[in-house]
Amino acid sequence: MSTTKSAELATPAAETFTLTENSTGRTFELPVIKGTTGPDVIDVRKLYAETGCFTYDPGFTSTGSCESRITYIDGDAGILLYRGYPIEELAEQSDFMEVCYLLLYGNLPSVEEKEKFRRDITYHTMVNEQINYFFRGFRRDSHPMAVMCGVVGALSAFYHDSTDITDPHHRMVASHRLIAKMATIAAMTYKYSLGQPFIYPRNDLKFSENLLHMMYATPCEEYSVNPVLARAMRRILILHADHEQNASTSTVRLAGSSGANPFACIAAGIASLWGPAHGGANEAVLNMLEEIGSKDHIPEYIKRAKDKDDPFRLMGFGHRVYKNYDPRAKVMQKTCHEVLDELGMRDTPLLELAMELERIALEDEYFVEKKLYPNVDFYSGTILKAIGIPVEMFTVIFATGRTPGWIAHWNEMISSPYRIGRPRQLYRGPSKRDYVPMDKR
Ligand code: CMC
Repeated sequence: MSTTKSAELATPAAETFTLTENSTGRTFELPVIKGTTGPDVIDVRKLYAETGCFTYDPGFTSTGSCESRITYIDGDAGILLYRGYPIEELAEQSDFMEVCYLLLYGNLPSVEEKEKFRRDITYHTMVNEQINYFFRGFRRDSHPMAVMCGVVGALSAFYHDSTDITDPHHRMVASHRLIAKMATIAAMTYKYSLGQPFIYPRNDLKFSENLLHMMYATPCEEYSVNPVLARAMRRILILHADHEQNASTSTVRLAGSSGANPFACIAAGIASLWGPAHGGANEAVLNMLEEIGSKDHIPEYIKRAKDKDDPFRLMGFGHRVYKNYDPRAKVMQKTCHEVLDELGMRDTPLLELAMELERIALEDEYFVEKKLYPNVDFYSGTILKAIGIPVEMFTVIFATGRTPGWIAHWNEMISSPYRIGRPRQLYRGPSKRDYVPMDKR
């Protein structure tokens, strides 16, 4: 098939798609694969060999990149399941350790399994002492995500005994290390920015309590963790723990497909998460709310968001997959109210502004027509700010929560047959031409 010929897809009754090349009438049968639930996929793996054509899908809006058993999203219905369990139930009833176990191993743990897993993780909460010195190479005013990328990437220089990806034991130890050390490194980036000493982890605390302890305790004063804030942090971590083949998870898989070690792959995921269209949106939401400043200015910003010639977008709105209310945003909104009530901050202008912006956007024809609903990042920033976490740390907290998801996907790929990820392209550059010496140009 050449680019001048048109091709159309037709749906036959059986489990195949028939591709017809209009100009020649040639047909190609493409197998259709069914998942447990959700849309079928057309298997195009042999398409190039049989037709000489690639598929073209920048942004991967119609492309399934892998088979997975971890997370399911129904974007139209606003459903998110981890290993089959609804996110709302996990956020309400589970804890982060259990969700990590569920994502990694596929089932909820028994009492004994959970206790063993907790011990395995807490065994790895400290980082090699030399990493403290590594931190000192960064400027104090570095963005914490810049520090995260560097320090997590550097873990492969410290933990050689867990970088053999062909060894299941190495893979398991690396997985536990990454989940455990991510919280410690996250807190260290904060302490470093303040110029305060690093605080060692406390293994008697739960994951989210320990994270808050490492961020807010000092050598001269213990931090007593408010249970409402610890619960909010736990929920934030659970809600962020996985989201199937999003940009950062796909980055982790692609990096891993070359055989790179897990620490390097997760560092790649952190880099991908940082962008404002992805995990950086929580920071961008808060900056946007502060820029809007008051309810009176909302119409002006809504107008800008709708203007094609203005790059401004309403941050925390819209999603590639959700064309309905993001189920995580609902839990976030509820948690936001709980936290602000607990802290006596219910009348905070920021929350009022966020709620008014949401109300106006949800009624606006542009947002309704394009199905742009609040996403997970819309309320998470308000909660994190109320807890006292600085805006630059928001995406770091997201990365800490997303780590089990990244690792579960990396493990899933490495544990089964896989090939290096290598997309092709539609080339539109110059055809072959001869080199012209400088004096002839
Ligand atoms: N404000 C205004 N218009 C928007 C917005 C928005 N937030 N989001 C999408 N649109 C418009 C967009 O201009 C486009 O209009 P048109 O069809 O007329 O050209 C249409 O809606 C579809 O947008 P898209 O950019 O093609 O959609 P996408 O699936 O490629 O992008 C998105 C999804 C999340 C990157 C985008 O909605 C966005 O930039 N949102 C703001 C950033 C944000 O909140 N990101 C967090 C996502 S959830 C957490 C995470 O992934 O980490």
